[in-house]
Amino acid sequence: MALRHFLTLNDLSPSELHSIIARAIALKKSWRNGDVIQPLKQKVLAMIFEKSSTRTRVSFEAGMAQLGGSALFLSPKDTQLGRGEPIEDSARVMSSMVDMIMIRTFAHSNIERFAAYSSVPVINALTDSFHPCQLLADIQTYVEHRGSPQGKTVAWIGDGNNMCHSYINAARLCDFQLRIACPAGYEPDPQLVALNSARVTICNNPQEAVTNADWVATDVWASMGQEEEQNHRAAQFAAYQVDHTLMSLAKPDALFMHCLPAHRGEEVSAELLEDPRYSVVWDEAENRLHAQKALMLFLLEQLNA
Ligand code: CP
Ligand code: NVA
Repeated sequence: MALRHFLTLNDLSPSELHSIIARAIALKKSWRNGDVIQPLKQKVLAMIFEKSSTRTRVSFEAGMAQLGGSALFLSPKDTQLGRGEPIEDSARVMSSMVDMIMIRTFAHSNIERFAAYSSVPVINALTDSFHPCQLLADIQTYVEHRGSPQGKTVAWIGDGNNMCHSYINAARLCDFQLRIACPAGYEPDPQLVALNSARVTICNNPQEAVTNADWVATDVWASMGQEEEQNHRAAQFAAYQVDHTLMSLAKPDALFMHCLPAHRGEEVSAELLEDPRYSVVWDEAENRLHAQKALMLFLLEQLNA
């Protein structure tokens, strides 16, 4: 029996990632065909959300229902976690009653502490530092539209945030080059960059990062928990909007991705976001469902491996 958590992409080997993506693509086809695939009958996923969510909540809850199981939505307002019950105690109690636990929280150390005391797989549904489930969907989307990302050039434009950190991990696992363009002072974690220096370069110039790229990605300028910095950041990031002018420097068949929710007119122009020649954001959002179904099946199978 192998208890496996998914706290960052680094919890998977490249070949495990590859097989999860292949399975996600297959599950999507079956789902579109109307096939009923319910290996998770009687399985329960607990979902702890300390931050808002549309895609993550709907995709995990729908995914569990489609696979024959069920999901519990737990907000800190309604559980003892929000009243200060220690994370370690909550982890031991919850994991004695459910089969998997998904957490969206602030400090990444919170999910590490929870996982250390959980007897069932724990899935990171976003922390301040990483958003690995989103990368499963992004990689699936690239593979579906363009094939393997190995050897490709990816440009990350904007904040060196949780999404950017997960792109750095993806660069290593998928073996692509990642060019990151951030305003000075908003670069990703230098230790993570140093660990991946063979594949990651940082610059402050979005044009340089995007030139001849195969895949361009961005995210909001102020993440959840940074709302009070919104106006200051909007001024700092003004030159980092991804629009048609910037995108025209990428390869002609480059794809544009955004994890959503998007702020049109800030990190992405409304025209680019809605331009299906480049933008695959709606496929990317839907793929959260399929990729996470494949992830949950993988984590539960590992328990019996
Ligand atoms: N991309 C993403 O995680 O969206 P939600 O915040 O709506 O879950
Ligand atoms: N960086 C964003 C991603 C939202 C899905 C945030 O953390 O708010």
